[in-house]
Amino acid sequence: MGVKTSELAAVILAAGQGKRMKSRIPKVLHPVAGRPMIHHVLGLAKSVGASPIIVVVGHGAEAVREALKGEELYLVVQDPQLGTGHAVMQARKAIEDHEGDLLILCGDMPLILPETISGLVAHHKELGCAMTVLVGTVEDPTGYGRVLRTEEGRVLKIVEEGDASPGERSVREVNSGAYCARPGDLFQALEHLSCANSQGEYYLTDAVEILSPKGVSAYQCSFPEEILGVNDRVELARAEAVMQHRLRLKWMREGVSLVDPASVILGVDVTIGRDTVIEPRVTIQGRTEIGTECQIGMGCVIRDSIIEDGVVIRPYSVITEAHIEQGATVGPFCHLRPGSRVGAGARVGNFVEMKNTKLGRKSKAPHLSYLGDAEIGEEVNIGAGTITCNYDGREKHKTIIEDRVFVGSDTQFVAPVRVMEGAVVGAGSTITEDVPPGALAIARSRQVNIPGRGRKRKGEES
Ligand code: UD1
Ligand code: CA
Repeated sequence: MGVKTSELAAVILAAGQGKRMKSRIPKVLHPVAGRPMIHHVLGLAKSVGASPIIVVVGHGAEAVREALKGEELYLVVQDPQLGTGHAVMQARKAIEDHEGDLLILCGDMPLILPETISGLVAHHKELGCAMTVLVGTVEDPTGYGRVLRTEEGRVLKIVEEGDASPGERSVREVNSGAYCARPGDLFQALEHLSCANSQGEYYLTDAVEILSPKGVSAYQCSFPEEILGVNDRVELARAEAVMQHRLRLKWMREGVSLVDPASVILGVDVTIGRDTVIEPRVTIQGRTEIGTECQIGMGCVIRDSIIEDGVVIRPYSVITEAHIEQGATVGPFCHLRPGSRVGAGARVGNFVEMKNTKLGRKSKAPHLSYLGDAEIGEEVNIGAGTITCNYDGREKHKTIIEDRVFVGSDTQFVAPVRVMEGAVVGAGSTITEDVPPGALAIARSRQVNIPGRGRKRKGEES
């Protein structure tokens, strides 16, 4: 590779197994607010315009490679994984000729803010040190490397928890795991690392002591919670809580009402328009876009969907990869599966399931229906209990219902079938053949009334 540039390069460490997660999935792929941690960190490197970006992979390398597909970066493999210092060494070839500074980030620190990273980089440039460590002062330093300073306050070294004396452990200033360094000095220092420590690993943090005579500085995180490194599921939940808190504040400040903010779960890629009201216990995930002045009822779960302005979603609806046009109303208790499109001003009511189906403008399916692989026109009325029989056991077939059709209750459409404009389908019909425009279709057996075969009436002899 050998990319020659005087800009800022970045290395992201993502080769560790993350043993404490006890997971089949590599640690850096665990999501926070719906996005794998590695992508949060990659976002930081991009936010300061780092180029090239090198990601060190090892444990679960294939899965991590897959998750990073399409991103402009280089992957280098660390195998075996002998520690964070050893991991950075693997990137040496890729940036040998790099003249600018080197930003080092860990794949398990999803909460660092972009402004903190740009502050770190600026601080490093300004002071002209060999290395600058991003640090934070926390209530409980357990698990982090402690920053040790001289009496004058100069950074002397970082000591890992397992190697620290009781006195050193009481230090509350800790290493975040992000650094900015002069690559020449850093790689030289890394050559001198030893693995004679509690973990038997080559610690990147030992470079601090080696480079200390050349000048090592510390830059403080803006907020203590940024420091959080995710090593187990408890910390993953903590990171999620912090990220959710940030997202809720962000959207409320943008003009969205959250009735009970703490109970709403949002994905990082979700967008929500002004004057939309979100009721308690709503989850909105993936690439969902919600317009202005919508009402999202209690308990709804919405993923990867487009909800246009003025839509009302009544409580407990589940909506996935669907599109609801302006002013439509859906729910309560409706299930819109992938490929559902609800037209402007249309209405989908309770216990209605839609899949790969378009319901046209101002059409209504108010109660208890299954509409699958159907194309339904405008101003159509779908009666209660209507079912599209789209599957014959082998293949899926289409039901087409044109504009202004009226479908009576408890109707089945055995697809493929087409009901043309303005037709009426009598209640209880099983429609197996196309219905011409304007026709009335009734497909049920005629009623027979047999006298005297009912129950005896009061006063009648038996
Ligand atoms: C590390 C720091 C510690 C700091 C903390 C912040 C060291 C020795 N310690 O500890 O001072 O306070 O982060 O969260 O650096 N990795 C590799 N290859 C390896 C080992 C690790 O790529 O051989 C990657 C991991 O995937 C992870 C990152 O490096 O993304 C940090 O490793 P981890 O084992 O989590 O280090 P900590 O014990 O948290
Ligand atoms: Ca960690």
